[in-house]
Amino acid sequence: MTAQEIRSAYLRFFKDRGHVQIPRSLLVPKDDPTTLFTGSGMQPLIPYLLGAPNPNGNRLVNSQTCLRAQDIEEVGDNRHTTLFEMLGNWSLGDYFKEDQIKWIWEFLTGQIKLDPKRIYISCYIGNESAGIPKDTESAAIWSDIFKATKLDAKQVDIGSEEDGYKSGEQGGRIFFYGDKNWWSREGSPSQMSSGEPGGPDTEMFYLFADVVHNQDYGKRCHVNCDCGRYIEIGNSVFMEYLKTDSGFARLPKRNVDYGGGLERIAAAAIDSPDVYRISLIWPIIKKLEVLSGKHYDANANAMRVIADHLRGAVFLAVDGVTPSNKEQGYVMRRLIRRAIRFAFDLGIEQNFLEQIVPVITEIYVQDFPEVASSEDKIVDILVKEEKAFRQTLRKGLNEFNKMYPESGTRGVINSKTPINKMTSFDGAGVFRLYDTYGFPWELVIEEATMRGLQIPNNWKTEFDQLLEEQRERSRTATKGEFKGGLGGHSDIHKKYHTATHLMYEALRRVLGDHVIQHGSNITEARLRFDFSHPDKMTPEQIKAVEDMVNDQITKDLIVTFEEHPTKEALEDLHVLGAFGDRYGDTVKVYRMQKAGEAKPFSLEICGGPHVEHSGQLAEGNKKFKIIKEESSAAGIRRIKAVLS
Ligand code: ALA
Repeated sequence: MTAQEIRSAYLRFFKDRGHVQIPRSLLVPKDDPTTLFTGSGMQPLIPYLLGAPNPNGNRLVNSQTCLRAQDIEEVGDNRHTTLFEMLGNWSLGDYFKEDQIKWIWEFLTGQIKLDPKRIYISCYIGNESAGIPKDTESAAIWSDIFKATKLDAKQVDIGSEEDGYKSGEQGGRIFFYGDKNWWSREGSPSQMSSGEPGGPDTEMFYLFADVVHNQDYGKRCHVNCDCGRYIEIGNSVFMEYLKTDSGFARLPKRNVDYGGGLERIAAAAIDSPDVYRISLIWPIIKKLEVLSGKHYDANANAMRVIADHLRGAVFLAVDGVTPSNKEQGYVMRRLIRRAIRFAFDLGIEQNFLEQIVPVITEIYVQDFPEVASSEDKIVDILVKEEKAFRQTLRKGLNEFNKMYPESGTRGVINSKTPINKMTSFDGAGVFRLYDTYGFPWELVIEEATMRGLQIPNNWKTEFDQLLEEQRERSRTATKGEFKGGLGGHSDIHKKYHTATHLMYEALRRVLGDHVIQHGSNITEARLRFDFSHPDKMTPEQIKAVEDMVNDQITKDLIVTFEEHPTKEALEDLHVLGAFGDRYGDTVKVYRMQKAGEAKPFSLEICGGPHVEHSGQLAEGNKKFKIIKEESSAAGIRRIKAVLS
């Protein structure tokens, strides 16, 4: 079956079971300021899942276009896409586990004819502290189904993904996991804020039997392993809980929220671990082969990126987005520019988007007619961006080659091993390409990564610093002010600089040693700090960091520095240093320590300058305060903090 046929079959199957088909929502959510894009079919249905009556009744079905921009960097392998369709069916307080599980099984094995032997299941293991029981009910329903199919239905408790990599599949069919089998827009029970609905879910996985487990992902394979041997093809969320200030309450009604990625189901239906071979994408690849005169097999990475990104950009254009420097427009701009950059690698150096758009509109002509009817608009938007960017791209790449002549050619996307050992790449280089040639910094970094250049962890700190200096210069130039006020500025700069060290150490003590600095920027008004950490910080964690910093300010630590050989500083003293092996032979190590105490609170490599006593940060009765904590990139958080 083609993906188009699967989509129609799904809608028909659930309409035959009393569901009303609702239209897809726009990719840009209308009333949901929490996300940039519609990332699941349930997002537009939140009010109804919370209990409001839906004018279309209690059984709904659709296929929702979704965009997950956090996956941009992953695109290029055989299974990640930014744009995808989520087949969805919902029960708003109507049917529950029994019907949902039986129907979705019937659909996938009866209608789509997936081989039951290749289907594996996960269920929720429960969460004692949140008072949510193990979902043995779903597991029992699945068990009966497998037994009726004459398949062994062994149940195995796994726990976390980490546990999965340790224990492997153990010959099981139904696996119990923790947070992986809990679904809410915000994540696990502990990540949810008050008022957010969620619930345990049961997921279905398809096994690509010919794919050999890749141990780069973990020792043993398991259904939630990311190596591509299993892919998730459906998730039935039993949404019956509401997060409250004190724990969890029941929603007024028990709902079902099912979502299944159409692209992945279609890949399973043709038993192809490569999702790009399905009928919603393959015609784009074919066109790229014609335009470039190259074969997919030898150029899969680049062709996948182009096909994926242009599909995303087309739907964004249909849904009213135009390329810009912020929010949705910025993501769209990145998609288009990356597609053009990768096409360049294929030898497509002329404008080509005008030829790809009709291929994409044709794919959706039956099912999303709004795509074909917007073709002129889409071409206008995409081609305008393409023309503007192509100039920049040529100049920027030339300059890149001049700046890093020894960097060689590009390797494979996502390659984890640097192929060149050259270390001269730095934030100053990124800044020059950006400042002089308008080359976007993401592309510079990507270019460097793909050529295997070693990128220092904190190139961004250096880049931000240069950017800030440049802004400062242009501000000063505009105002015609060349002196005065600088003493005051540098004083507050020093204070924020010292506060940054205190906060970095506090973050590591509160959150853990995985916290590593990724960027820092200081103005007269605030400090900004980027660091690695997978989750949003809780209000309690923020408070703990603030308290610890204020405590160290009150203790009036003495700030001093010593010069040390770099190797000794990094290896023996275990000081924090963000520049890795890019330091010279000796480094300045800043020590912040209370008089009479045996150990320093903070020890960090830094050029300075700092205040002499941490107590100076409290001058004028000021306190250290975190005013913002947000995501800055995948796995990177950003804090803004002030002394006020
Ligand atoms: N809302 C669920 C998901 O996105 C179905 O996986």
